Amino acid sequence: DLNIIWMLLIGYLLGSIPSGVWIGKIFFNKDIRNFGSGNMGTTNTFRVLGKKAGIVVLLLDMLKGSAAALLPLMFHSNANALLIGLSAIFGHAFPLFAHFKGGKTVATSVGVLMIYNWQFFLLAWAIFLITMYVTSMVSVASMIGFTLITISSLFYHDWVLTVVALVLTIFVYVRHWSNLGRIARGEENMVPFGFGYRR
Ligand code: G3P
Repeated sequence: DLNIIWMLLIGYLLGSIPSGVWIGKIFFNKDIRNFGSGNMGTTNTFRVLGKKAGIVVLLLDMLKGSAAALLPLMFHSNANALLIGLSAIFGHAFPLFAHFKGGKTVATSVGVLMIYNWQFFLLAWAIFLITMYVTSMVSVASMIGFTLITISSLFYHDWVLTVVALVLTIFVYVRHWSNLGRIARGEENMVPFGFGYRR
């Protein structure tokens, strides 16, 4: 189906927009990949460029996923929104516009989830915020969040959702390899939010 190929291509291009890098370069004259964790995502944008930029990057990175997941609706296609959304997640991880070195896929995946199943999206946010409040580590909240989301998906009897959630969870762990090292050494960056944070 030609439509599916177009949707996947558009989704990939949307996902490839490295919003954190561009916002940093345009408004702060800074490449966030050279600071903090070196990641181009929301967390590192908050860390390096501050709250306003962090919120903008979170919204833009989520929007990339949401827009891709909405493509089937726009193309009058009955392709699965979750599967088309994957193309944006893939784009965010391997961006055409940033030498194929992208982010950790948390925000973009959440954006896809928002369109696919809003109740599940709220559940994902709740799990994420609770874990972040307890640990003060975004990386831990992301990994635990994806893990619990995969387990919770079993209650929806939607095997596409469960398989995609499982694949995304494994990928999120792989992408957080450097974070896992820092967590093991007790050196992971903390956010000034919740119980975990002391200083
Ligand atoms: O959004 C990714 C987050 O889980 C970790 O980001 O910059 O602390 O490695 P960072």
